[in-house]
Amino acid sequence: MNVGLVGIGNCTSSLVQGVAHYTAHPDAPGLTLPVCAGYAVSDVRFTAAFDVDAAKIGLDLAEAIWTGPNNATRFAEVPPLGVPVVEGVLSDGVGRRVGERITARGTADVEAIAAHLERTGTEVLVNFVPAGSQQASECYAEAALLAGCAFVNCIPSVIARSPHWVERFTAAGLPLLGDDLKSQFGATLVHRALVELLAANGVRLRNTYQLLAGGNMDFVNLQDPERLRTKQETKAGGLRGADGDTLLPPEQVHVGADYIPFLADRKLAVIRIEGEGFGGTPVEVDLRLNVDDSPSGAGNVLDAVRYLKFALDHGLAGVLDPVAARLMKAVPNPMGEGAAAAGLRELLALGRP
Ligand SMILES: NC(=O)c1ccc[n+]([C@@H]2O[C@H](COP(=O)([O-])OP(=O)(O)OC[C@H]3O[C@@H](n4cnc5c(N)ncnc54)[C@H](O)[C@@H]3O)[C@@H](O)[C@H]2O)c1
Repeated sequence: MNVGLVGIGNCTSSLVQGVAHYTAHPDAPGLTLPVCAGYAVSDVRFTAAFDVDAAKIGLDLAEAIWTGPNNATRFAEVPPLGVPVVEGVLSDGVGRRVGERITARGTADVEAIAAHLERTGTEVLVNFVPAGSQQASECYAEAALLAGCAFVNCIPSVIARSPHWVERFTAAGLPLLGDDLKSQFGATLVHRALVELLAANGVRLRNTYQLLAGGNMDFVNLQDPERLRTKQETKAGGLRGADGDTLLPPEQVHVGADYIPFLADRKLAVIRIEGEGFGGTPVEVDLRLNVDDSPSGAGNVLDAVRYLKFALDHGLAGVLDPVAARLMKAVPNPMGEGAAAAGLRELLALGRP
């Protein structure tokens, strides 16, 4: 399947490395699904790449992923891919904090992006621009529509939650997935599981916080309060119960993010949950989680592109709700883990003879 990438930052680096790594070693640990929706990792082929960082534009994708300020862990060697990084649409992609660290250049327009997607035969476009880039995300979604590509919105901008975009992708017969990618084993997953477990066992939840720290460009970007706000919304919305209901009102959920340069791509999450148990007695949970930030997102996006290719093969359009519930933090129709798993089984049955 032919996959296009928008934003050649740390997450894209881990994704590109992951495809090289698991193609060469399909049994290596860490991969959720060696075969997903009928596709192996080796079926994923990168065909287009867009960025606005002058240092990355013009480089082969395999070289651009190692170009600063990227600092994701190097866990695989990637041979030249023959995919040049093409200048994208700048729009609101680069905020003040990121703008201080890169030379941004992005004079392309939506039509030029769509023409490149068509020329390269791209089928699925993955959006990995910095959090808070609503307009830039819309430009790439528009280009995907024009070029007849499925679209995965891995960032907190509102695309798959917008009836406007869902209607347009559905009308065009194209699948759409979003918003804001979940990590394989990240803070949102653990936080949600704990909140769900406490509620299911009769503990009345009072409040909770999730404090994050990291030293990559995502955390540089999140030092801008407006950009952090979009992340806070999708994270708070991610704390849902088995029936898809929100378990805590948003004002009782605090999400913070700190930039600590020497952490590089390591992410620290400190989670605290407070509640009332039997007799109104206090129940408190404190947890500290340490993961590599970007590889932990890459596994899920590898599944996302394979599900979307499956959807294209079977003429499925719009948001695939069970896939979205499984892989994304903020979705148009939230559902619990059980319902999502059942929905996924039903969906994949379409592929059986
Ligand atoms: N595990 C994770 O790391 C994870 C999980 C969920 C969501 N996300 C989201 O994924 C996104 C990417 O994360 P990252 O760590 O790779 O960030 P990053 O800052 O390393 O990479 C972003 C890239 O996008 C480029 N860019 C900026 N504006 C652009 C534009 N208009 N067009 C094309 N390219 C543009 C930047 O130059 C940079 O190369 C962020 O929004 C982040 O919140 C990450």
